[in-house]
Amino acid sequence: MAEILLGVTGGAAAFKAVSLASLLSKSGHSVNCILTKAACEFITPTQLSSVSGKPCYTDLFPLQPSLSIPHIALTDNADIMIIAPATAHFIARAAHGLADDLLTSAFLACSSPVLIAPAMNTRMWSNPAVKANVEILISRGIRFAGPVSGMLACGTTGSGRFMEPVDIASICHEMLESRGVQ
Ligand SMILES: Cc1cc2nc3c(=O)[nH]c(=O)nc-3n(C[C@H](O)[C@H](O)[C@H](O)COP(=O)(O)O)c2cc1C
Repeated sequence: MAEILLGVTGGAAAFKAVSLASLLSKSGHSVNCILTKAACEFITPTQLSSVSGKPCYTDLFPLQPSLSIPHIALTDNADIMIIAPATAHFIARAAHGLADDLLTSAFLACSSPVLIAPAMNTRMWSNPAVKANVEILISRGIRFAGPVSGMLACGTTGSGRFMEPVDIASICHEMLESRGVQ
């Protein structure tokens, strides 16, 4: 059983993070979830906690802290961190070392392998700024899952579609197995 830290950002594919959390949880893993403020516009912490069976975290400075220093406590024992879906905004902040919320602070504090599954409009995904930020993260050993080509939330077809949760879970398992974590 692995300790998985799943970060969810504010994109149209955020609802698919619920399926991903469910798949990982049903595989026997312990799944802690962090939602960005924008992610909470698309899904609720309750949706994720109801499939993970664990509380969801949204705030760097919670009013009633259940963890002393959340971004450190959540990364202390994580075997892998997954950000799915990852927005262009998250990718930019991660590439440039910003830590202005719980998810980006946890990303910087995480010493385990990281898997990022981006999802965005095709024009956003092909924007040179996004491409450069992805290259920075790849050069630092971050693994990417997708995006794939297909129908997008905005109604167009092209690259930028969120990879299917089952395929992201499969890459996650492969990454865990390569480190001897079942
Ligand atoms: C309806 C709607 C859908 C959006 N979908 C995406 C998306 O799929 N990918 C993306 O990168 N940004 C998307 N955005 C923009 C992000 O929500 C915005 O950049 C936000 O600041 C992301 O914050 P976060 O990265 O902290 O979650 C969308 C915005 C709206 C209003």
